[in-house]
Amino acid sequence: MDFDFENRIVAPEFSSAEDNDIELSLRPKTIGEYIGQDKAKENLSVYIEAARQRGEPLDHVLLYGPPGLGKTTLAGIIANEMGVNFRVTSGPAIEKPGDLAALLTNLNDGDVLFIDEIHRLSRAVEEVLYPAMEDNVLDIIIGKGPSARSIRLDLHRFTLVGATTRAGQLSAPLRDRFGVILRLELYTPAQLAEIVNRSAGILGIDIEQDGAMEIASRSRGTPRIANRLLKRSRDFAQVMADGAINKKTSSLALDRMEIDELGLDSIDRLILKTMIRNYNGGPVGLETIAAAIGEEAVTIEDVYEPYLMQIGFLSRTPRGRTVTPAGYAHLGIAMPGQQRLDV
Ligand code: ADE
Repeated sequence: MDFDFENRIVAPEFSSAEDNDIELSLRPKTIGEYIGQDKAKENLSVYIEAARQRGEPLDHVLLYGPPGLGKTTLAGIIANEMGVNFRVTSGPAIEKPGDLAALLTNLNDGDVLFIDEIHRLSRAVEEVLYPAMEDNVLDIIIGKGPSARSIRLDLHRFTLVGATTRAGQLSAPLRDRFGVILRLELYTPAQLAEIVNRSAGILGIDIEQDGAMEIASRSRGTPRIANRLLKRSRDFAQVMADGAINKKTSSLALDRMEIDELGLDSIDRLILKTMIRNYNGGPVGLETIAAAIGEEAVTIEDVYEPYLMQIGFLSRTPRGRTVTPAGYAHLGIAMPGQQRLDV
């Protein structure tokens, strides 16, 4: 069977211009409005306050964690709370050192430059970033061969906010240049329900508490997914009921989208089933799973695995991935040597 990976309803990446616009309108602008990530928020508030009191830019910040948890949102909040401009780019978009030089020379004093997927910067671009981060200077090589010479340009002070799904993928010299490193965690269903209620308020959607909880508990710990499922539930509630989202209409919507009661969709189940059927539940290597289902290994690792591991359906061992007894039970498949579990 073919799966539509691009349009996966629980994919945490942006999937359409409409989603993107809605995301922007739902994005909190201040730390006070931002729900969850309490540890990161508390420390960040102190660093922001301290930098403001000293009249200095905030130290460079690295945000890491699975996609869809609000790294860009938090970077925007940092700029807003510091009262400076917010410039957004990404690792793959900065192709040459000159691209980065252009970005850096256009920053005003104290501005925040946000680089998403910062682990994808090329070596040559990273080399330009080091002196910029450390000494606010740009070293530019002019000419080639024996006549090449280097000139040094002063930059305004700035804060680099880098985001990555995995801090381990960053080169050590780059990682070491961030003064603040914050890990974002998957949200609890209660936090997601709060986010769903807030978003419903902004979008004028009629929702009851049990409906918000139902959406929250099937959103795999990710606000971006919760907001998307909220919109789709509204469609079902509008067309198939009286428009209000409650437990019944949200369950109907989520069932129709084949998202089960824990938020797993057909691709999550495909991963687990493939591991069970083809590899006896593991241990099996990531690359092997990727080849078997036709998805990239990094996508499985960054997008699918964090939640499957958080709910205890998948474990990582030195010899590869294994499906846990809870994973078998959820799919209603008997573990080798056991009776079938009817769940
Ligand atoms: N929308 C998306 N993420 C959010 C968060 N953490 N807090 C409030 N609203 C959000």
